[in-house]
Amino acid sequence: MTATTSDALLEVRDLTVTFQTPRGPLDAVRSLDLDLEPGGALGIVGESGSGKSMTSLAIMGLQPRAARRTGSVRLLGRELVGMSEPDLRRVRGDRVAMVFQDPLSSLNPYYTVGLQIEEAYRAHRPGVTRREARRVAVEALERVHIRDAARRVNHYPHQFSGGMRQRVMIAMALSTEPELLIADEPTTALDVTVQAQILDLLQEIRRETGTGLVLITHDLAVVSEITDHIVVMKDGVCVERGPVERIFTRPQHPYTRALLDAVPRIDDEIGELRAVTPGSAVVPDQVVPTNGGPA
Ligand SMILES: Nc1ncnc2c1ncn2[C@@H]1O[C@H](COP(=O)(O)OP(=O)(O)OP(=O)(O)O)[C@@H](O)[C@H]1O
Ligand SMILES: [Mg+2]
Repeated sequence: MTATTSDALLEVRDLTVTFQTPRGPLDAVRSLDLDLEPGGALGIVGESGSGKSMTSLAIMGLQPRAARRTGSVRLLGRELVGMSEPDLRRVRGDRVAMVFQDPLSSLNPYYTVGLQIEEAYRAHRPGVTRREARRVAVEALERVHIRDAARRVNHYPHQFSGGMRQRVMIAMALSTEPELLIADEPTTALDVTVQAQILDLLQEIRRETGTGLVLITHDLAVVSEITDHIVVMKDGVCVERGPVERIFTRPQHPYTRALLDAVPRIDDEIGELRAVTPGSAVVPDQVVPTNGGPA
């Protein structure tokens, strides 16, 4: 086991998540090590069921009750395994924020996006006034390039397109200025044009805020866009890790090679899209016409 370096943003050692099944214990994640420097970007790649989501949940202490988590998760030198629930809750959202695949299931349809960002912010900044929270919400929407943010803040989730909803989720995640953003398949539900725009946005946010990023995806092309290092997972285990360049040019594990076989075509497609959409982080305001909407 490597000694803790105090300047690491995230240091995961020997992380194991075990479920008891009728056929005995099953490790959804086994002996996983992860390292991320402040402002760095790490990609976790693997097929469905390889343990990617369980890893991200276990980092945050959000694994299912039925699961047992062992090992060590250090965030800025602080051990999260064994931390009390109130302390953990402060870390989540304050220091670490998550963005999931399906923004619609994470947003409450009955509240405006502004109110939801405000609530998320106020939960971690006790004593903040409504007016201040509103200002933060509008700024957060502006930061993710939602035009006319002062007006859009009063809209409901269904009044946004899928890509715009993902922008809202990213805005909410960033409102407390976390040191680490964990994005679990943030672009999977989106078409390829919008996917490229969201990746551009994440890249831009990294550059501007210095937020560290753990990006989870089944798609190597996606991680190659914005991460420096890749961890390849299969059946809960890391089968290969390294800098993006090396993984792409000299993959060691047959499974990584198989994943790479699917990549070039998609990569070209994203490249072409970038070429035809200069400044593609800024997209037209996509208001879905409403029939009145919730009162
Ligand atoms: N409640 C549970 N009981 C037993 N096993 C579970 C449970 N929940 C998840 N698992 C197992 O954990 C493993 C990892 O699941 P996980 O959701 O992390 O995969 P993933 O890599 O995120 O897949 P996907 O790409 O489909 O999102 C899977 O093999 C799954 O069957
Ligand atoms: Mg998953």
